[in-house]
Amino acid sequence: MAIERTLSIIKPDGLKNHHIGEIISRFEKAGLTPVGIRLQQLSQKEAEGFYAVHSARGFFKDLVSFMTSGPVVVMALEGENAVQKNRDLMGATDPKKADKGTIRADFAQSIDANTVHGSDSLENAKNEIAYFFRETELQKY
Ligand code: TYD
Repeated sequence: MAIERTLSIIKPDGLKNHHIGEIISRFEKAGLTPVGIRLQQLSQKEAEGFYAVHSARGFFKDLVSFMTSGPVVVMALEGENAVQKNRDLMGATDPKKADKGTIRADFAQSIDANTVHGSDSLENAKNEIAYFFRETELQKY
């Protein structure tokens, strides 16, 4: 299977509830290695730009407000089948519908405070990683 990179964000609720370690541990155990990682407070502009594809949706304003309500952890994860593997570990967007044992089922409170973001395609992963990281900030080990 191909080695891929994907973008993961631990959202403000994940930090406020002290789940950074448990979430990264799940990634590492599943063979997803953080090759770029940063704790960051998103500006309104950065959050709006990142979620621009949703700008016409009714939930956009609340989403931007939530994503800027506290710092996030942005990560580039590398591993076999990384895009789909990360989506599988995350679970469905709405934690009520997420499979048992997924990050969102275990840690998320609601569809808007749903603990993690993960790229949904290889093409989006490339763009999303480039949105947050320069190539020189991504390491090999
Ligand atoms: P989306 O890309 O559909 O989901 P995912 O994060 O699983 O790829 O939506 C982006 C984020 O927008 C989602 O994580 C939370 C928020 N959102 C809402 O607040 N309400 C909604 O009804 C939807 C669909 C998303």
